[in-house]
Amino acid sequence: MTELPRIPLAGVLGHPVAHSRSPALHGYWLRRYGLKGFYIPMDVAPGDLETVLRTLPKMGFVGVNVTLPHKEALLQIADIITDRAALIGAANTVIFRKDGKIHADNTDGSGFIANLRQNAPHWNPAAGPAAVLGAGGASRAVVAALIEVGVPEIRIANRTRPRAEVIRSDFGARVTVHEWVQAGPMLEDCATVVNTTSLGMTGKPDFKVSLNALPFGALVTDLVYTPLKTQFLIEAEERGNPVVDGLGMLLHQAAPGFERWFGQRPEVDEATRQAVLSA
Ligand code: ATR
Repeated sequence: MTELPRIPLAGVLGHPVAHSRSPALHGYWLRRYGLKGFYIPMDVAPGDLETVLRTLPKMGFVGVNVTLPHKEALLQIADIITDRAALIGAANTVIFRKDGKIHADNTDGSGFIANLRQNAPHWNPAAGPAAVLGAGGASRAVVAALIEVGVPEIRIANRTRPRAEVIRSDFGARVTVHEWVQAGPMLEDCATVVNTTSLGMTGKPDFKVSLNALPFGALVTDLVYTPLKTQFLIEAEERGNPVVDGLGMLLHQAAPGFERWFGQRPEVDEATRQAVLSA
C-alpha cells in the first residue's frame, strides 16, 4: 500500500482563542505560497494544556503557537526550552520534534526588534536609554530583546511597582525602576519608548503620559495594535517623533514558526498587513 503524503498541521492554543489573528495570518501565508497545510485555532482550558500538547503530535501536528493564558504554563510542560524563553519566563512557539520532545521558544522579543528594524531603519538602539511602560509578560520579552540589541539602560515604570522590581532582579543592572507617576520625566534623553501596557487598546482607557521631556528623534512604539494607531502614537507623531505601530510585531513573531512548520520563510510586507487587517 502506498503511503499518503503528509500534510503539516499547526495551530494556536488559547483560552479564549476566537479573537486571535494568527489563523488569518498563517492561512494567508499558506495560500500565498501555495503550500499544503492547515493552521487551526483551538480553545484549550488551562487544565487540558498538557494533554493537548502530548496528543497533537500523534495527530500529525508539527507545532503550535500558544497564547494567553498558556504562555507561562508551557514552560512547565516543554521538554526543551530555549534560553530566551527561560529568561522571559514564557514561550509562544512550539515545535513537536520527531523524537517526541516538545520544544518551546519565545519569538516575541525578536518579533518586536524585527518590526522596529523594518519600519524605522534609522533607529539606533544604542543611542540612549529605552523607556518601557508596563511590566507584564509582554514587557519581559521587550526588555530581553532590548538588552540583546545593546540598549545601554532600560527604564521601567509600572502601575504596580513590584512587578518592575522583579524584572530588574531577573535582568540585571541595566534595568532601572521608576515610579508610575514619573513615567513622563523618565523619558528625558531616551532614544526609544515602548508602551507594553494594555492602555490605549480599544475599550480601555488611553495611555496618558507627558511627552514633553522626550527628545524629538526618539522612536516611539506601542505593542497595542487595536486600534492600529493608538492615541499615544498619534500624540508622539504630532510632535514629530518617528512612530511604529504594534501590528508588525505580531507578524514578525509568527514568521519563525511558520518557516519551521511549513518549510517556507514568509514575507512580512504590506500585503501581509492588509491580509490580517481585512480578515
Ligand atoms: P501582557 O502579558 O500583555 O503584558 P499583563 O501581564 O496583564 O499582560 O500586563 C499588562 C500590563 O498593563 C501591566 O504592566 C499592567 O500594569 P499592572 O502590573 O499594574 O497591572 C498594565 N496595565 C493594565 N491596565 C492598566 C491601567 N489601567 N493603568 C496602568 N497600567 C495598566
